[in-house]
Amino acid sequence: MRGTLCLAVLSAIFVPATAAVQGFNSWVFNDDGTPKYQADYEAEFKTARALVGAPAGGFNSVRLSTMIQANTRNTIVSAIPAAIATNTSLLLGIWCRGGTDFSVGTELAALKAAVDAHGEKLATLVVGIAVGHEELASNSEAGSRSGAVGGLQPDDVVRFIMQTRAAIQNTALARVPVGHIDTWSAWANASNQAVVVASDFLGMNFDLYSQQCAPNTISTAKILFDSARLMTKVAAIGRRPVWITEVGFPVSGSRSNGAVPSPLNAKYFWDVVGCPLLGTTNVWWKTLRDTGQGPPNNPSYGVVARDATAPLFDMSCAPGSTYTKRSHSFEEKRKFQQEGGGQKKGDANMNKNKAAKGD
Ligand SMILES: *[C@@H]1O[C@H](CO)[C@@H](O)[C@H](O)[C@H]1NC(C)=O
Ligand SMILES: *[C@@H]1O[C@H](CO)[C@@H](O)[C@H](O)[C@H]1NC(C)=O
Repeated sequence: MRGTLCLAVLSAIFVPATAAVQGFNSWVFNDDGTPKYQADYEAEFKTARALVGAPAGGFNSVRLSTMIQANTRNTIVSAIPAAIATNTSLLLGIWCRGGTDFSVGTELAALKAAVDAHGEKLATLVVGIAVGHEELASNSEAGSRSGAVGGLQPDDVVRFIMQTRAAIQNTALARVPVGHIDTWSAWANASNQAVVVASDFLGMNFDLYSQQCAPNTISTAKILFDSARLMTKVAAIGRRPVWITEVGFPVSGSRSNGAVPSPLNAKYFWDVVGCPLLGTTNVWWKTLRDTGQGPPNNPSYGVVARDATAPLFDMSCAPGSTYTKRSHSFEEKRKFQQEGGGQKKGDANMNKNKAAKGD
């Protein structure tokens, strides 16, 4: 008991008491598969910041997955100077999937080079450093069943977290919280507790669309997300905050199990999952623009069409703008149901199925 209390106090010191940030995930490729350069990142961050009809607080943060520029061996990702130029806060990412000490070392060398180059200007923008992305989910029974690659043992993730802390020691980033990102079921798995203990924050990813066995119609969004978040909070011993690091619903693309992409369903998902988090929880939505081989990307999670400045659906979270309100018109409701919302599929074994996909 004493040990747990001490840990709680320590993590409270590491985590700065700033207001919650809200932003988007940003990957290293454009929607057509070409690498993003600084101008692309700057355009993206400016669009997010000036998004028409953005909720209170706006979108002025970005989650990166790697420190390395696309298609290079060890060049610092150009999202860093772009974030500095646009005053965009950063959840930095250390890419670890299938990682070795050597590959993670390359990420950490780029991190150190970025601090050397930008110092305080970078440090004031960094909200945290996420070491890894769903390696424990890939390592799980369900992960191996579904053929996931790039999984790591919890000890490996802990070692990479420690290496990251060592890399930022005595730099401008020394006091930045360091954590890991995974699915709720990986966080809730007691065999992974060493990663919880090693983390200053727990990043949770949630993807309703890609759940292949659970009843994942849009109408289950809130209950499944809320229970995933609760399970992660329970796993977060002490006072480690749970940040929502990747969550969203596609605006277009093929049906996946019960999930039907559409702007209307993406809006419903935003209203019931996104809006309640704003101002209280750090959240990085999936996403402003697609990354991939398209356009068109299938599924497409991008809320903004190329060169547009307004999202494909109302993201204001303003009273009366959401589907949970009475103002929800009959036509919209009917269309929403036709697009897969409100559809019920009996499944007596929801929890087992949820665990199967890992989120
Ligand atoms: C940068 O953003 C922060 C918080 O979003 C704000 O407090 C600060 O004044 C901004 N700095 C500049 C130079 O605009
Ligand atoms: C729990 O985590 C361990 C270590 O990551 C993993 O080997 C195991 O398969 C996980 N359990 C389940 C049920 O996925």
